[in-house]
Amino acid sequence: MSNTVVVGTQWGDEGKGKVVDLLTAKADMVVRFQGGNNAGHTLVVEGKQFIFHIIPSGILYEGKKCLIGNGLVVDPEVLLKEIQDLKVAGKEITPESLSLSEKAHIIMPYHKAIDLARETAKGRHKIGTTGRGIGPCYEDKVARTGVRAVDLSEPKTLEEKVKANLKEKNFFLTKFLDAEPLELEPILAKYLQMAGRLVPFITDVSLELDQGIKANKRILFEGAQGTHLDIDHGTYPFVTSSNPVAGAACAGAGIGPKQLHHVVGIVKAYTTRVGAGPFLTELEDETGDYIQERGQEFGATTGRRRRCGWLDLVVVQDSARLSGLDSLAITKLDVLTGLEKLKICVGYELDGERISARPASLEKLAKCTPIYMEIPGWQEDISRARQVDQLPPRALAYVKTIEEITGVPVSIISVGAGREDTIMIQDPF
Ligand code: GDP
Ligand code: IMO
Ligand code: MG
Repeated sequence: MSNTVVVGTQWGDEGKGKVVDLLTAKADMVVRFQGGNNAGHTLVVEGKQFIFHIIPSGILYEGKKCLIGNGLVVDPEVLLKEIQDLKVAGKEITPESLSLSEKAHIIMPYHKAIDLARETAKGRHKIGTTGRGIGPCYEDKVARTGVRAVDLSEPKTLEEKVKANLKEKNFFLTKFLDAEPLELEPILAKYLQMAGRLVPFITDVSLELDQGIKANKRILFEGAQGTHLDIDHGTYPFVTSSNPVAGAACAGAGIGPKQLHHVVGIVKAYTTRVGAGPFLTELEDETGDYIQERGQEFGATTGRRRRCGWLDLVVVQDSARLSGLDSLAITKLDVLTGLEKLKICVGYELDGERISARPASLEKLAKCTPIYMEIPGWQEDISRARQVDQLPPRALAYVKTIEEITGVPVSIISVGAGREDTIMIQDPF
C-alpha cells in the first residue's frame, strides 16, 4: 500500500496531467485536493488529446474512482461540460466513477464578474488571473459566506445564501469596480437546474477515502498549479488562492498526514509561467521563442502564450523542501533537443552575496540575478527513448545535474506528450 501525491514544483503546467494519467494505471482512486478550473491538465492517450480542468486526470481508465475534494472551488457549469464532453467521447460518467465533496465550494457568476472587473481595474498591475472566479470564491470560503456543494441539494439554503451574497457583491461590483450588477432570478434558476444533475455525485469524499484506505486501495492525489503559485509560499501576490503544496492534500481531501507515502514533484526541464509576476530565468530572446514553439507553450485553460526560461533549481529546491519531495518526474526533456548550450540556475546573487532560497520580498527578488551553470546540449532525437540508457550522454548529464543539485532522485523522465513517451525509472507506487 502506498498513496502518492503529485505536485507541480514551478509555476504550473509542468505536465501533472500526463504523469497522473500514467500513474493511475496502478492506483484505485484519484483525488484532486485544491484549486479549480484555473487548472488545465492535458493527457494524450492513443494520440487523442484530453484537457481536464476539474475532473481528475485518472478518469479515462475503467474501474478507478475519481474524487473532487473539499479543498476545491468548483464551477458547476464547467464540471457538467466535462462530464458531457466525456460522454460524447464515449465515456459515461456516473456516481460510481466520480464523486464531488459536499464541502467543496461553488463558483458563482459574481465570483467570475469580480475576478474580471478587478483585473480590469488593476490595469497594468493585474495578476493575470485565469478569470475563472477562483480568488473571489476562496475569499467567500474564508469569509464564511460561501456556497458549498451540499447547498445545491437544499434549494431554500441556496436561495438564502445567494440572495444575501448578491446584495453585497452588487454593491461592490457597481460602486467600487464600475461593473454591471447581476440579477438573482436567472442565477437561481440556472444553479437549481444544474443542481439536479450534480446532486447524485455529491458525497462525503473524506469518508469514501477512509473506506478506500481501510480496504487497502491505492490513492493518487493530483495537485493543481505549482508550488510557486502557492498562496503562502509562492511569489505573493502573483499567486493563486490555494495551497498547491503536498501538505494541502490532507486538508483538501480530508485524510491524515500518515496516509501520504510518496510525493512526486513534477519538474519541467525548463521554466514557464502564465500571467504576471517575477521570473528570474525568463528568456526574452530567440532561445525563449525556440522553447516556446517546440514546447507548444500555450495555456491549456486560457490559451495565453506562456513565458519561457531556463530551468531554475532555486525554485525546485524550495519546492523539494516545501512538499518533502521523495522523487522527481522530469517532463518535456525532448523540447530542449537541438539547443547548443543549456543553462541551469543554481543560485541567486543578491547584493554581492550568493543565496540559495528565494526571498519573500519582491523588492529583494527583483535585485537578484541568477547564477547559471552551463552544460552542453544534445542534438539527438530523444522522443523514442524508453530506457535511461537510450538517452544520449548529454541528456542524461542534464538529468543527473538536476538530481545532484536538488538531492532528490528522479523516478520518471517524460520525452513526449503521450502516455507511452516515458522512461519509468522507479514507479512511485
Ligand atoms: P499540467 O497543468 O501540469 O497538467 O500541464 P499542462 O497540460 O497544462 O501542460 C503540459 C503540456 O505539455 C501539455 O500540452 C502536455 O500534453 C505536454 N507534455 C507533457 N509532457 C510532455 C513531454 O514530456 N514532452 C512534450 N513535448 N510535451 C509534454
Ligand atoms: P495547472 O494546474 C499555470 C496562474 C494564473 C495567474 C495566477 C492566479 O494547469 O498547472 P487564478 O486564476 O488562479 O487566480 O490566477 O495563477 N495559474 C496557473 N498557471 N497553470 C495553472 O494550473 C494555473 N492556475 C492558475 O495564470 O498567474
Ligand atoms: Mg496546466
